[in-house]
Amino acid sequence: MMSKVLQLKTSIFDTQENQGVSSQLGDVVLTRLRDDDARLELLVRDFSTDPVPYFDNAWLQALSTPPDERSEDQAEKVAYSDALIAEVQAADTIVIGVPMYNFMLPAALKSWTDHIARAGVTFRYTDTGPVGLLSDKKVYVVLSSGGQHAEGVTDFLRPYFRTFLGFLGMKDVEFIVADGLNMGEEPRKEGLHKAHKQIQNLNSNNAIGAAV
Ligand SMILES: Cc1cc2nc3c(=O)[nH]c(=O)nc-3n(C[C@H](O)[C@H](O)[C@H](O)COP(=O)(O)O)c2cc1C
Repeated sequence: MMSKVLQLKTSIFDTQENQGVSSQLGDVVLTRLRDDDARLELLVRDFSTDPVPYFDNAWLQALSTPPDERSEDQAEKVAYSDALIAEVQAADTIVIGVPMYNFMLPAALKSWTDHIARAGVTFRYTDTGPVGLLSDKKVYVVLSSGGQHAEGVTDFLRPYFRTFLGFLGMKDVEFIVADGLNMGEEPRKEGLHKAHKQIQNLNSNNAIGAAV
């Protein structure tokens, strides 16, 4: 069976020219995954050219309107969210490039999370609490930041992604961290070097092994 990979490039830096560091490193992860499975099928969502719209009240209304009563615009809105969810459902592996902007994830990526978290579809509530419905996926989160951030201090991203992805059932999450990128030449070189090393050593067997 061919393995499917979904790659999210969420940097605001255009991928055509001055591509964001997190997007570039996501490509390096892809090269690494291809070492194990040259035939993997890749779908790339590039937010720099195609940002995910803000999940607003109109979207909420569209989703809560019965299908046969939706206006054309509402049907389009639901189809858009459905497509984002289908991409995640179909993927065996997800690679998310995440730049830190003002201590958090890019706004368009937050919108993506709002579109894909849907009760009854990607998670459900039970008597004993919520249950994620997206399991058996491997997720690589590539974090890039200008400064250095320790977990429990100013790195809100690792706990956030562990919680959000885990909530939807995605518990196999591996982080690749490129930090200190705007702290001068040496720390930047060191930050990139460490990230490349993590990518070299990452464990892709869970996701890809069966396809080889
Ligand atoms: C709008 C904006 C906000 C930023 N905020 C932070 C921040 O809060 N902390 C930090 O360490 N770096 C911050 N940076 C630096 C970025 O994290 C750094 O440039 C990183 O490489 C961006 O990843 P990218 O190249 O994939 O977009 C910010 C950069 C931008 C453009």
